[in-house]
Amino acid sequence: MSDSGKEMSACLKVPKPLAERLRRLLQENGMLRPDLKVGREEDFVLLPLEPSFAEFGALEGFLPDAAAGGTACAAELAEGEFEKMKVAVNYKDLAQVPPALKNLLPSSFDIVGDIAIIKLQDELLPYCEEIGKAMLKALKTVRVVCLDGGVKGEFRLRDLKIIAGEQRTETTQREYGINITVDIAKAYYSPRLAAARGAVVPQVKEGAVVVDMFGGVAPFGVMIAKRAKPSKVYSIDLNPDAVDYALRNAKNNGVENRVEPICGDARDVVAALASKGIRADHVIMNLPHSAYEFFPDALSISKNGTVVHYFEILDRNEIDARIGLLGELAAKAGFAAELFSLKEIRSYSPSDVNIAVDLLLS
Ligand SMILES: C[S@@+](CC[C@H](N)C(=O)[O-])C[C@H]1O[C@@H](n2cnc3c(N)ncnc32)[C@H](O)[C@@H]1O
Repeated sequence: MSDSGKEMSACLKVPKPLAERLRRLLQENGMLRPDLKVGREEDFVLLPLEPSFAEFGALEGFLPDAAAGGTACAAELAEGEFEKMKVAVNYKDLAQVPPALKNLLPSSFDIVGDIAIIKLQDELLPYCEEIGKAMLKALKTVRVVCLDGGVKGEFRLRDLKIIAGEQRTETTQREYGINITVDIAKAYYSPRLAAARGAVVPQVKEGAVVVDMFGGVAPFGVMIAKRAKPSKVYSIDLNPDAVDYALRNAKNNGVENRVEPICGDARDVVAALASKGIRADHVIMNLPHSAYEFFPDALSISKNGTVVHYFEILDRNEIDARIGLLGELAAKAGFAAELFSLKEIRSYSPSDVNIAVDLLLS
């Protein structure tokens, strides 16, 4: 931070003629920082980016065709100094809670479509409805506010209570130019993973076969089918509600001929696909607490050249050992595993991180 009115931020530096179109595209997809003003530098416009979309180069493969109608996009990632937006109203200023508790009000929360999801410390729980009302007033696009009791169980469902607004938990989120509809009480979906999904898309070549072992409502599958040209994406999930939404999302985004949602245990479905002779060019494993247990299943549907996109939450000090173990399992199945990308996509606790690993098998 240089002074109280300005802040450094990663940004997209774009030639003026492209700027307005790109600004709108980034804004629609939650990639533009709403708290900073757009900057200017000679013939370029600087669009401040949300950090997760800048770290990954996750915009690669997203911007050119969407923003420039199929032509190469002359945008580049850069760093700039930006003036802060004057925030009209902060929900914290409107929330009717005792002054001594004000500093416990969280500064960050998730927004999925038009639903805000907030975690509150125990001391604030008696005031949750007041806090929800304040959020509705301050956040113009929000229609529902839910209290978040955490993600639980095999289906990774959020324990939610509506504290303000309309009585519903279904919504539609725009992400990288696709629309994902989900009932956040019935199926897992996190907008925080959008950049990780966006980083997979440019790796998928035309005609590729993709197996998403834990596909949820198919945000990976739909995005890949829409933005790359795979021949088929199998999007597997154990949760029937997630699979219903996956079918709906594939249809609503016009990719139902290339995304095949399948309800079942990934282990059984992968075995059934493999027994039909299907081999994947990409296997996506986004079940961060237990992906390791399913790695042999991913190998069983792999071939020379398969890339496994592996996500896990683990202690930072155990990452090297885990990569070693994945290599050993691959060797047992007759593959050499080359680690060509390892990213920490978010902190999960002071010691644990969510990693995204890309492994090339040969
Ligand atoms: C962390 S979520 C990821 C969903 C999706 N990939 C995304 O990015 O939104 C993990 C998903 O795996 C599903 N799941 C859990 N165990 C499974 C299993 N044994 N086989 C298939 N799906 C499973 C859950 O229902 C959940 O939807």
